[in-house]
Amino acid sequence: MPRREAKIAFTFGATAHAVVHAGATPVFADITPETFTLDPDAAAAAITPRTAAIMPVHLFGQPADMQRLTALAELRGLVVVEDAAQAIGAALDSTPVGTFGHAAAFSFYPTKNMHTIEGGMIVTADNHVAHRLRLLRNQGMNGRYEYEIVGYHARTTDVSAAIGRVQLAALPRRNACRQANAAFLNDQLCGVITPPLRPGAVHVYHQYVIRHPDRDALRQHLADQGIGTDIHYPAPVHHSPAYNVPATLPHTEQATAEVLSLPVHPHLTALDLARIVAAVNR
Ligand SMILES: Cc1ncc(COP(=O)(O)O)c(C=O)c1O
Repeated sequence: MPRREAKIAFTFGATAHAVVHAGATPVFADITPETFTLDPDAAAAAITPRTAAIMPVHLFGQPADMQRLTALAELRGLVVVEDAAQAIGAALDSTPVGTFGHAAAFSFYPTKNMHTIEGGMIVTADNHVAHRLRLLRNQGMNGRYEYEIVGYHARTTDVSAAIGRVQLAALPRRNACRQANAAFLNDQLCGVITPPLRPGAVHVYHQYVIRHPDRDALRQHLADQGIGTDIHYPAPVHHSPAYNVPATLPHTEQATAEVLSLPVHPHLTALDLARIVAAVNR
């Protein structure tokens, strides 16, 4: 039986779309509610003979439980593809995200911790995969007009690369600002669930996501105080019209009702942070 399924959890739609574009079927498994990342027990329970891969998402910049997920993958003969779109600079036990699996994808969309206006990066230590990715990026060509496979136009422009080099140099400082802002919020906020840090993790806080049972009222209150917030994500991907999977994933579904992303970006001033704390703690 061909292996044509990948296990994924609470995420942005692109994680699931990538599985479909690869000719496979995304199978959704639940998260651990504290970290918003794929629950290894839920992933294990969802594995069938058709399963080819596990796709942990390092959501909001927090590494997934890679020790257990890579051990599970090894035990069951599965590939691990990390969705590190939101997590450049994050690490677990001194190992950078993107180096745990067989391949990993990073996003350089403008809202990310670093960007190239648009674009992204795939990393792999597997030469065969790297060769295939290079072909796919450039119309399947291995040499000029030699079409080894059917590919895409997915090349990075020189302008994007130049922007990326500057952004990359600023990344450590910007991630450190995000971490300092998050540490301040963790310390000062009351009456909400602040994002816990996985032991051994370096979290880069692409989003700083709190939980509150009356999320929409809190969001309105913050908007009234002039504090912009967002919801990542307001609905689970598996219930969207594109997938319409009837499965119930209680932790994912509860998260969509309770999560609220507060400002954490590196340009926040001490006054901004104090205003956010005062408004949340009202
Ligand atoms: C978790 C996750 N996966 C994948 C993507 C897709 O990245 P891109 O928009 O660069 O294709 C994003 C982008 O927001 C994301 O947040």
